[in-house]
Amino acid sequence: MSKSIDAANLRTLFDMSRDALAALDDPVAARFAAAIPADPGEALHRAPAWTPGTDALANARPGARYEDLVATLQGLAPQLEWRQSYKRSPQMESYLKGYGYIEFLGQRGHYAPAGAAFGIGVIGPDCLYPTHRHGPEEIYLPIAGSAEWSYDHGPWIRHGAGSVVHTRPWQWHALRTGTETVVLLYAWLGGDPVNVSEFAPVA
Ligand SMILES: [Fe+2]
Repeated sequence: MSKSIDAANLRTLFDMSRDALAALDDPVAARFAAAIPADPGEALHRAPAWTPGTDALANARPGARYEDLVATLQGLAPQLEWRQSYKRSPQMESYLKGYGYIEFLGQRGHYAPAGAAFGIGVIGPDCLYPTHRHGPEEIYLPIAGSAEWSYDHGPWIRHGAGSVVHTRPWQWHALRTGTETVVLLYAWLGGDPVNVSEFAPVA
């Protein structure tokens, strides 16, 4: 069993992640970054936990500019509390077999909730996050690998490291991976990602 993450190491990972969002020349990303406090406060105790996404992280290929962040995440991964926020069901099987996330800010974060929900997700190869929507506004910043997104039941569009992928409130969206693992910074404004998504009926 790994030990819980050291507060200084956790803060380094948080700072690098927040800086990655803040460094983007994009007005939407800037709005999200502004909602994430520069000082997240005291680290809460979170016991290390594993998900399939934790394993997938080992094979992630960082994008340019994100080598240090991805290497730091990989190094600290065994000490972080990895989570899955969906219960097992036929619809979610493809996603649950390969994903996991850590939460910096949020109801179950390594820090107390503040401003925006903020964390890092990892989705291994050949996963589908089915079409869903939610009231909070959402942003993804891929930092390793790439994935495809479909909005409003439209075509799949691939986004890689450095792209800002923005979901408006209640906009239908889905995500799928191909042959590679994708690592994403995520942030939500106006709510928390836990148990608030509505899924589209399966055709
Ligand atoms: Fe979403």
